[in-house]
Amino acid sequence: MSRKGIILAGGSGTRLYPSTISVSKQLMPVYDKPMIYYPLSVLMGAGMREIMIITTPEDQAAFQNLLGTGKDWGIEITWAVQPSPDGLAQALIIAEDFLDGAPSALILGDNLFFGSEFDQTLQAAKDVTEGATVFGYHVNNPKDYGVAEFDADNKVISIEEKPDDPKSNYAVTGLYLYDGNAPAYAKTITPSARGELEITALNQIYLDRDELQCAMLGEGTSWLDTGTHRSLLQAAQFVSVMEERQGRRICCPEAAAYHQGWISREQLHALAAPLEKSGYGEYLFRISRPAE
Ligand code: TTP
Repeated sequence: MSRKGIILAGGSGTRLYPSTISVSKQLMPVYDKPMIYYPLSVLMGAGMREIMIITTPEDQAAFQNLLGTGKDWGIEITWAVQPSPDGLAQALIIAEDFLDGAPSALILGDNLFFGSEFDQTLQAAKDVTEGATVFGYHVNNPKDYGVAEFDADNKVISIEEKPDDPKSNYAVTGLYLYDGNAPAYAKTITPSARGELEITALNQIYLDRDELQCAMLGEGTSWLDTGTHRSLLQAAQFVSVMEERQGRRICCPEAAAYHQGWISREQLHALAAPLEKSGYGEYLFRISRPAE
């Protein structure tokens, strides 16, 4: 069974207040495109065409207005809501029928991954359909994340959620690959002290079964999250610098669809037309022109 994607794009976004009082965080721009384009292009770049997007009930219509069924991009979007922000692991329970026993890739709607090392690591990890894989990244502020601890053979021996005394500088990033058992395991989790079904608790179940892998992302990967005013601005600056320097736009779902062969050059050209007044649309026009 091929792996299906889940984007978790609900939450409260309180750290971005007042900007996110009436707009979902994941619809805010990161420089030249809505935030959700970034995780969506990760799933598409890894070859996933069946994707569930989970939003709050209030925001679902706005997301649908942006993305529709996904048909124009050669993908199939299934929409679901999370009635209240009860934790990341709840995504697997919400997605149970959609997954129908298939392995999954859960990605957080506010995470930005970029780099050829990342693409290769994900591609390799994606083909392992038993157990779970998380992705570790060296950060300055591990206390803000789930933190992995390793033994001498680089095997994960613990994961702690937002620890006061982190056992390493390796954060567990917002992308998780699970086998078909994840919904059943998620249902056994009880809410944490902060009232959430913690993704760390789900990962702990795989760890206890000796079925958790941690793939390391190194200097060839950029991982940014966008949950605070400062990190959102930094992510936007990063995208702007990369795009201006290289003359390519990064994390464009339309380009991912084209490169996967899911849409033709003519279809890409047609998608660019309504966007032609923006640099984003100009870029899609450029890559949809036949090579000289
Ligand atoms: P967070 O940034 O941890 O939480 P949040 O988005 O609610 O923001 P804040 O802390 O500022 O109030 O969430 C990480 C990602 O997961 C983000 O994309 C929102 C999403 N999310 C859900 O969809 N449902 C949830 O229950 C939680 C906790 C997060």
